[in-house]
Amino acid sequence: MKKKMISLILTAALLTITAGCGNTGTQSGGQTDGAQPPAAESTTQSAADTQAEADTQDSVAQPDAQADGATQAQAEAQSEAAAGDTSGATEGEESSSNVLVAYFSWADNTVLDEDVDAVSSPSVTAPGNVQELAGWVQEETGGDLFSIRVTDPYPSDWDECLDRANEERGEDARPQLQENVENLDDYDTVFLGYPNWWYGVPMALLSFLEENDLSGKQVYLFCSHGTGGLADSVDIIEEAAPDAEISDNIFDCYEEDASSSQGEIQSWVEELGY
Ligand SMILES: Cc1cc2nc3c(=O)[nH]c(=O)nc-3n(C[C@H](O)[C@H](O)[C@H](O)COP(=O)(O)O)c2cc1C
Repeated sequence: MKKKMISLILTAALLTITAGCGNTGTQSGGQTDGAQPPAAESTTQSAADTQAEADTQDSVAQPDAQADGATQAQAEAQSEAAAGDTSGATEGEESSSNVLVAYFSWADNTVLDEDVDAVSSPSVTAPGNVQELAGWVQEETGGDLFSIRVTDPYPSDWDECLDRANEERGEDARPQLQENVENLDDYDTVFLGYPNWWYGVPMALLSFLEENDLSGKQVYLFCSHGTGGLADSVDIIEEAAPDAEISDNIFDCYEEDASSSQGEIQSWVEELGY
């Protein structure tokens, strides 16, 4: 009898210990470890930072640029980001969330030239502005992160990127995407993040909206931009996704404020009920 009691106690103790050793590799958003975007970086963007209108450019015709004195640390973060898979919502992965956080960011869509000038090509080094905002939205909502990526990366040089983006805009192009959201039906809410490109959106965002039907879904937009603000971007998105429920409550921030916007993102997402 005494032996039986001891054996019972030992079994119970063993069970308790095993329960505390669950698989922690999968995070709440269905992401696996290492799939997180790089942690928010405290790149100091002082008031003295200049807005780098490329001097050879016509300031009316050309969009503005942020000059934030990106550091070596940012370049390192870029390679970390490239190594990490942020597309947790793609084929073969199961999601436990009904929230998708899809975003486009230049840093996720370029291959850095060795001699990239991170001052005149601001935000090209990871984390990109929208990439960073998206990471915080994901943290707050527990949603699944999906980086919209083109198959043909953009130049990491500011002027060249502007040129290509402008060409695509002129042609009403739909750049090919690396992948689409496989389990789109699982999501009823989509946070969609993008930078203002040429007074509107990167054309890849339209590829995304045409290939991933957001009809009937609640959509919350967030955007980082230069001095142009949201410009025509919201109208363009509404036109591309006419049956999506696009909320008027849009988060937007100036490019130089993006890296210090975590608190604002938290308040915004809380306001939306998360
Ligand atoms: C190709 C390109 C075009 C841009 N066009 C505009 C623009 O028309 N108006 C504006 O305010 N900002 C413009 N910007 C600035 C970006 O919107 C801004 O830097 C944003 O924060 C970048 O986000 P990201 O780092 O996630 O790509 C442009 C940037 C690029 C690379």
